[in-house]
Formats: sequence, structure tokens, C-alpha cells
Amino acid sequence: MRTQVGIVGAGPAGLMLAHLLHLRGIDSVVVDLRTREDIEHTIKAGVLEQSTVDLMTETGVGDRLRREGSVHHGINLAFGGALHRIDFAALTNGRAVTVYPQHEVLTDLIARRLADGGDLRFGVSGTRVEGISGDRPSIRFTHEGSEQRVECDFVVGADGSHSTTRALIPGRADLFREYPFAWFGILAEAPPSSGELIYAHSDRGFALISTRSPTVQRLYFQCDPHTDPGDWPDDRIWEELSARVAGAGAVVKTGPVFQKSVLRFRSFVCEPMQHGRLFLAGDAAHTVPPTGQKGLNLAVADVYLLDRALAAYYERRDTSLLDGYTATALRRVWRAQHFSWWMTSMLHRFDGTNDFDVRRQLAELDLVTGSASAATTLAENYVGLPLTP
Ligand code: PHB
Repeated sequence: MRTQVGIVGAGPAGLMLAHLLHLRGIDSVVVDLRTREDIEHTIKAGVLEQSTVDLMTETGVGDRLRREGSVHHGINLAFGGALHRIDFAALTNGRAVTVYPQHEVLTDLIARRLADGGDLRFGVSGTRVEGISGDRPSIRFTHEGSEQRVECDFVVGADGSHSTTRALIPGRADLFREYPFAWFGILAEAPPSSGELIYAHSDRGFALISTRSPTVQRLYFQCDPHTDPGDWPDDRIWEELSARVAGAGAVVKTGPVFQKSVLRFRSFVCEPMQHGRLFLAGDAAHTVPPTGQKGLNLAVADVYLLDRALAAYYERRDTSLLDGYTATALRRVWRAQHFSWWMTSMLHRFDGTNDFDVRRQLAELDLVTGSASAATTLAENYVGLPLTP
């Protein structure tokens, strides 16, 4: 088999890239180890930046997002006994974020690729990428019991944080930051506790009140990475969440908890993001802690660049955008790494934190909510910078 762009991974990066390339008449084949069922039902992130929403809308995959997504024009920071609102609309000239679950984005992209006759292979095994240093790379895999080999012009490794394609980049640097805590995340059958997200700083540690739909809430609280969700019956979870937000006057609406998990907290960047005819995108190249929800949005920003770079190659045999991919993508990646780290460091309780550290965090939160320029920095980064033209 032959295609122009072979894509390993049917997550946000892989599927969005296949869709963007199709609109330009560039073919792709997407392979993934997971089943379609798995991809469409695994609950992950939920907050889309303005530019992600705009790109989905402009490329014809934003209908359900527009109907079912919930637009948020601000967030609240809870600290020092009160809620402090960051008004995105006022600070960023009307930009906003939209809460729309990642698995719904994937469901919409898969439906559209299949309607457009796209080649998506789910449930493959034994994926191997070969020949990326030459001009005929290929992907081998087993699909429905038969061995396949797809010859490609380019391969995109969009195979997530456990990426195997990343290992093909010789001499790469893996830059890491582990955090000494995790998030305990729950999904509960309950209406939203708040019209907008609440990020809470408290003596007991961080908490976040988010949402997924009018009937499902997503909530998190900072915990030890070794926490066993089995030790946390529903009542204990609700008590802990309430204790962390009550000081600021927020009230948590409770309901049956139907999913509990502990999310690891780490930052990672692989440099460079390319070698020969292999390009990494999304979590394969970088992961961010969940604070600030940059993961899916960075994946979309990467493939926005790759789409334009591949178009320049096919239209004019111009390789300058492909050659510059790592440098261009990493600017946004490091901006997001800094932003996620900044939000994290301002709101979490670190081991060995003393009263001095807490007062310093409160002073920083005071700055961010009290100074228009600091609030604008937070708001601009949260709603997301425009995609590189
Ligand atoms: C979520 O709803 O999962 C969420 C929202 C905002 C964050 C992190 C996670 O900063």
C-alpha cells in the first residue's frame, strides 16, 4: 500500500492532521493500537482553546461542538477567603474557552474521516516505522490478522505519551520535570457546582471544580501520587473537596461518583521533534501537567503547523516549513510548559511548604487578580495564543 502521510496514532493530533490534509487533497493512513470504541469512550481532557474551536469550526467539524459545548468567558481563583474572577472576555478581546470533552472531539473527527472515505485502522498490533532517514519511510503493522506495509512520503508519530516512534529520533534530549503530587480526579452525576471553573488554593492543597455536561461534573483535588482510589469512598471525597473550596464561599454539588482515578503529574519535552521524514506531534513529543488544559490544544497547534508545512512541500517542493517545524512548534510548547508550571506552582501545596511560601503564593494570586497586566497574562495564556500564521 502507498500513501502520502502515514500517521501513527488516532488521538487528537493524528485525526486532526488526517482531516486537515484531506481538505488539501493530501492522503493519509492512520493506524492505532486501540479500538474505535476505546478511543471514543475514554474520558480525558475537556477544555478547548479559542483557536482549537476556531480551527474545528472553519474546517467543518465544529457543528456538535457549537451545539453541545459550553463557552466559558472566565474562571475563578479561590484563595484568601473569596472567589476572584478572571474575565477572559474583557482581558482578551472577547476570546473564550469551550468545555467539550476530548472523546467527543475524537468521535466527531472519526465520523468525518470515515464520511470522507479516510483510511483509519483501529486495533492494529506490532506497529513498526522504518526508513525515516531515507525518502521512502514505511509503517508495518498487523490489522485483522494480516500483515500490512504502508509506504509513505512522511510519517507522523502521534502515538501519545508512551510513543514508540519517539525512540527513532537519534540523539534526542528528553527533558523532564516530575512533580511530587498527583490529582485525584472524579466524574460524578451532578449538575455543575459553578457556572465557571474554580481553581482553589487552600491549606489542604489545590482543588478544581470543572464540568463536562449539564449532568456530569469533573472535579479534582491534589493528592499524594501513591493514593489508592479504593481508600476514598464518595463521602470522604466530597468532604475533602468541600473543605478545600468552602473558605472561598463555594459550595460543591454532590452526586454519585462513577469514576475515580489518580492522574500523574509530569512535564516532558522531546527535542528535536523530528528526524529525516519522521515528525512527532502532540503527547508523543511533549506532555504538560493538566493545570491549564494545554495538552489537547498543543496537539492541535502542532498539526496545524505540520499541515501547512506538508502543503508547502506538496504544492511547491518547499521544505523550509518542514525543516523549521521543531523550532516553530517548540516556542508554543515551552510557553505552555511555563504556563502550566506557573498555574501549578501558584496553586498547589508543595512538600515542606511553610507559612512564608503560602504568603508568597497568596501575594502572587493577589497580583494576578489585582493587576490588569498580570490578569491579562493569565487570561491570554489560558484562552490560548493565536495559532502561528
Ligand atoms: C478538566 O475539566 O478536566 C480540567 C479543566 C481545567 C483544568 C484541568 C482539567 O485546568
